[in-house]
Amino acid sequence: MDIITTPSYEALSKEAAAYVSRKVQENPHIVLGLATGSTPTGMYEQLIKNHITLGTSYRNVTTFNLDEYVGMSKKNHNSYYAFMEKHLFQHIDIQNEFTFIPDGMSDPQKECGLYEEKLRKHGPIDLQILGLGANGHIGFNEPGTPFCSRTHVVELTDSTRKANSRFFKGIEDVPTHAITMGIDSIMNAKEILLLVSGAIKKEAFEKLLYGEISEDFPASILKKHPCVKILADQSALDTSSIIA
Ligand code: GLP
Repeated sequence: MDIITTPSYEALSKEAAAYVSRKVQENPHIVLGLATGSTPTGMYEQLIKNHITLGTSYRNVTTFNLDEYVGMSKKNHNSYYAFMEKHLFQHIDIQNEFTFIPDGMSDPQKECGLYEEKLRKHGPIDLQILGLGANGHIGFNEPGTPFCSRTHVVELTDSTRKANSRFFKGIEDVPTHAITMGIDSIMNAKEILLLVSGAIKKEAFEKLLYGEISEDFPASILKKHPCVKILADQSALDTSSIIA
């Protein structure tokens, strides 16, 4: 794993966006795997800036998002569909029919099969962006998920629901289930860019770097991927930033 540390979240976002933009320019038909959550929002902001100032075009780019909450309509502002529209898609020239996100309102099991079919048809993913859950989850693959999993329905852990309740009125409003690309579906990507930011991720990051490869810590599988780049900001490394 190639690890790059940056002094701040802003620097991480700029570095990540520069990397992704370069990849898009090199391959205008690139297939990107996209993540939601707080970590990649700065990168998306920079990608929009690069699109406007450098003219990076997404016209022929295909995207696959990692996950969606079960029972969440596209219109709900907490859906990952709405997230992607707000933070990226509505600001760039990407074509709607080339952006894939699991449909939270479809029959969940059927949707998983359909999503895998789409991945087979339009994939493989050239560059997968990932965030890191505080419990080591990637996508919504919670601890204990088999490494061989493909797109599937997960029951979210209490810790993940609690972590994500910051976007909802309260924890009771956070869905209990989600559809997520599986660990094997993620590992199928040709290249992975993992973004780690904030003191809250310090423990998970340490575990990723120094811990063993185990299904109890989903992100640990990344050590087996031939092409992983990690961008981490100083606060994800610093104990002092937890106090600050
Ligand atoms: C969420 C998402 C993940 C994301 C992770 C970390 O629950 N399903 O794709 O990477 O948790 O989120 P954040 O970047 O907000 O810390």
